[in-house]
Amino acid sequence: MSGKKSNKTSEQGHGTTGHQWDGIEEWDNPMPRWWLWTFYATIVWAIGYAIAYPAWPLINSATAGILGWSSRGELAQEIVAFDEVNAAINARLETTDLNAINDDPELYGYAVSAGAAVYRTWCAQCHGAGASGVQGAGYPNLLDDDWLWGGDVDAIYTTVSHGIRNEDDDDARYSEMPAFGEILEPEEISQVVNFVMTLSGSEPKDPDQVEAGAVVFADNCASCHMEAGTGDREQGAPNLTDAIWLYGGDYDTVAETVTYSRFGVMPAWSGRLTDAQVRAAAIYVHQLGGGE
Ligand code: HEC
Ligand code: HEC
Repeated sequence: MSGKKSNKTSEQGHGTTGHQWDGIEEWDNPMPRWWLWTFYATIVWAIGYAIAYPAWPLINSATAGILGWSSRGELAQEIVAFDEVNAAINARLETTDLNAINDDPELYGYAVSAGAAVYRTWCAQCHGAGASGVQGAGYPNLLDDDWLWGGDVDAIYTTVSHGIRNEDDDDARYSEMPAFGEILEPEEISQVVNFVMTLSGSEPKDPDQVEAGAVVFADNCASCHMEAGTGDREQGAPNLTDAIWLYGGDYDTVAETVTYSRFGVMPAWSGRLTDAQVRAAAIYVHQLGGGE
């Protein structure tokens, strides 16, 4: 490369830059006009944009822009518009008897899809994305027809509105299984656990204890779980004769349940969601498969 300028001129009448590489030189032609004007236009546009919209970062915020636009404001507007579109049907959802919603296909379809959205946002973290619950963790399967507190749409609505054993809602469903570790002898606990295993057809760990366990059960457990072990929805006492377990049906897990008891808590939703949303969730859960 050398800085020695040659005397050639381009078609536009310009010389070379003086750069040279292996005999290849570069014309000193100016940028095309169209390119230059486009470039100036982008500068003007950028200045206008920075004045009109939020642009320059400050210490705690940013310049607001004279149009007053913000992404948050835009979202709020979209939400208002969305609510306005749905206001009429939400009002219908709130005033129609839960059992009559079925008869109105448009309203029913809306309730199921709105309920599915509520479910995905607020319920799936405990009951599972597919509503099959979390086995062993006390989060019940909502797809089956085994209900702790009742599976008709009114019962489901009450459960979802007020929740279960929470402290925020005075109307929450409530019951408490005692911790039998403080009431029964270890021998009696082992007897009743063996008996409970037979209720759903499992092999007991020690068959010799089953008979005595039946007596312990009748004296201590039947008041809530019923004589035959079929459970009581008034008290949310699970059916122990099906093989569907909140916490687990093996010896050790049942022994743990009986010794320490459990206290499954579900939040109340009536304060957090609109009544239309709670109703939609109840309709959605009801149609999942086990609704009565
Ligand atoms: C923080 C966890 C949690 C969240 C969130 C939650 N639940 Fe629950 N839910 C539970 C637990 C735990 C139980 C069982 C309580 C018991 O042992 O009685 C339950 C029970 C239920 C039942 C009663 C089932 C039956 O067999 O009677 C229904 C219905 C229900 N949930 C629906 C919902 C819906 C709908 C939502 C969302 C709006 C929701 N849950 C959100 C924890 C949760
Ligand atoms: C005061 C009523 C009450 C009494 C008495 C009672 N239970 Fe319960 N039991 C419940 C309730 C309510 C639950 C659900 C607890 C929860 O989900 O938090 C439950 C849950 C259970 C479970 C868990 C079931 C599962 O699906 O995992 C077992 C097992 C059980 N009880 C056995 C017994 C035995 C055995 C006795 C007697 C020694 C007994 N219970 C006495 C109310 C009672």
